[in-house]
Amino acid sequence: MLVNAKDMLVKAAASGYAVGQFNINNLEWTKAVLTTAQELNSPVILGVSEGAGKYMCGFKTVAAMSRAMVESLGITVPVALHLDHGSYGACLDCVEAGFTSIMFDGSHLPFDENIEKTSALVKLCAERGLSLEAEVGSIGGEEDGVVGMGEVADPQECGRIAALGVTMLAAGIGNIHGKYPANWKGLDFGALDKIHQAAGSIPLVLHGGTGIPEDMIRKAISLGVAKINVNTECQLSFQAATRAYIEAGKDLQGKGFDPRKLLAPGTEAIKATVREKTALFGSAGKA
Ligand code: 13P
Repeated sequence: MLVNAKDMLVKAAASGYAVGQFNINNLEWTKAVLTTAQELNSPVILGVSEGAGKYMCGFKTVAAMSRAMVESLGITVPVALHLDHGSYGACLDCVEAGFTSIMFDGSHLPFDENIEKTSALVKLCAERGLSLEAEVGSIGGEEDGVVGMGEVADPQECGRIAALGVTMLAAGIGNIHGKYPANWKGLDFGALDKIHQAAGSIPLVLHGGTGIPEDMIRKAISLGVAKINVNTECQLSFQAATRAYIEAGKDLQGKGFDPRKLLAPGTEAIKATVREKTALFGSAGKA
């Protein structure tokens, strides 16, 4: 059964570990994340970007596939199906499609508009039993080959968004999606500490979980981070394993072309990444 992310994150924040959000792109990716979470007895969050949702034939298809897969694979650990960085319209679509959790990313909007739209979604999510992630201070990342540095969120604004009743809060603390540039200054723990105090007991979310050094991950968890998002690292490990398989000519052996065989090494690589990150985040055995 799919659940919302509230209980798993409240428990994680209270116990000093973080639950991994692993972004999915297709059936194999979803299966790899679910079976690994089950193997590790860890709660898990399936992240779906708007683009990945479109690729997988829309949010309804993703929700139906995820629900059916949880059932047919006999998954018993808590699993949340979560929209990643949603626009307001995508949030409404995911509520209708049967997602159990959504992120509204209003960080690029004027702050009052972020407040207004987040408030409306707090109400809707409470009525429909979903968890809601809000964002203050945008996360950096690569666009057209240029890596933008992440913003540092204003703790006072974080406190105001947290007080609206959101389930979890993503606050920019210098984190970046994808690969970190050589001149990256690291996470701003002074800001995180202030945000943690201003946001009360709300679980905090750390985006850009791919390139953050392990000691910084552990320190962030000690300062209230209870959910960490990982996307790029699964893509990189999938790509490297698939390339190695093709370069070794293994796809040409056997009888004809079998897409199941071609995707198998990449899928195993995703599982290895999920194992490694889940061990680092400390959520193994916590289902
Ligand atoms: P990475 O791509 O850096 O792992 O970040 C993922 C993320 O934060 C998704 O919202």
